[in-house]
Amino acid sequence: MSWSPTQYLTFAAPRLRPALDLFARVELDAPALIYDLGCGTGQLTQLMAARWPGARVVGVDSSAEMLARAAGDAPSARIEWQQADLATWAPPPAATGAPQLIYSNAALHWLPEHATLLPRLVAALAPGGVLAVQMPRNFEAPSHTAIADTVLAGPWRDRLALMLRPSPVASPAWYFGVLSPHAASVDIWETEYLQVLTGTDPVKEWTKGTWLAPFLAALADDAERARFEADYAARVRAAYPPRADGRTLFPFRRLFMLVRR
Ligand SMILES: C[S@@+](CC[C@H](N)C(=O)[O-])C[C@H]1O[C@@H](n2cnc3c(N)ncnc32)[C@H](O)[C@@H]1O
Repeated sequence: MSWSPTQYLTFAAPRLRPALDLFARVELDAPALIYDLGCGTGQLTQLMAARWPGARVVGVDSSAEMLARAAGDAPSARIEWQQADLATWAPPPAATGAPQLIYSNAALHWLPEHATLLPRLVAALAPGGVLAVQMPRNFEAPSHTAIADTVLAGPWRDRLALMLRPSPVASPAWYFGVLSPHAASVDIWETEYLQVLTGTDPVKEWTKGTWLAPFLAALADDAERARFEADYAARVRAAYPPRADGRTLFPFRRLFMLVRR
């Protein structure tokens, strides 16, 4: 899908917080090689370069738009940007050896086959290295189920229904079962953030930056997009009504994993 850095960064603060919470839990003193998978606009990639000044840091993403924004915002000689599809990506042989840290915030839920993808990433680490992953696990919430409801209720149903898919993120216990045979330790937890949003239809604006975007892109024209957006907005407004002070509360659950090889 095509990513819009501007739409994604509309909610930069609440999107950054889980990334920082994961980052803070990584206990590595001096990693030599770090990959930030699905680095997007590179905010965390920059923080990794700052936290570990001796490390070679590589941000990997499939989106040319996101990488262009990342390279523009962080013109550091110590950060490299690679365009690649994570479905087939593997760390290239490097003079510094295998990575000590593979970090991925809010990206791997876009990829299928977690049963093979995640063990493959653990296997790519240097011994003692860490895979740190955060993914949303909010796919049963109205913000996401209203997308399916809108798809199935409109004249676009036949074109868009094939794009609906079940939750791409499994339970914590499932990930523990998949990862523990390949790891020295597996630490998994969830956090539900009570996000406080402002503005008109902020939940719609939030999902427009991520999960809603491919559905909007698949519609015929701007007029149909406007009808779809209005239908979806009405559904999420009912599920997340603005408070009297104009703010909208949007609970959002996220899954975190720290896997040490
Ligand atoms: C929600 S953004 C997260 C960006 C960044 N990690 C952050 O936390 O701000 C998801 C990113 O994953 C990237 N992505 C999604 N699928 C991908 C794939 N198959 N290969 C590489 N990158 C992918 C997107 O291009 C996008 O930049």
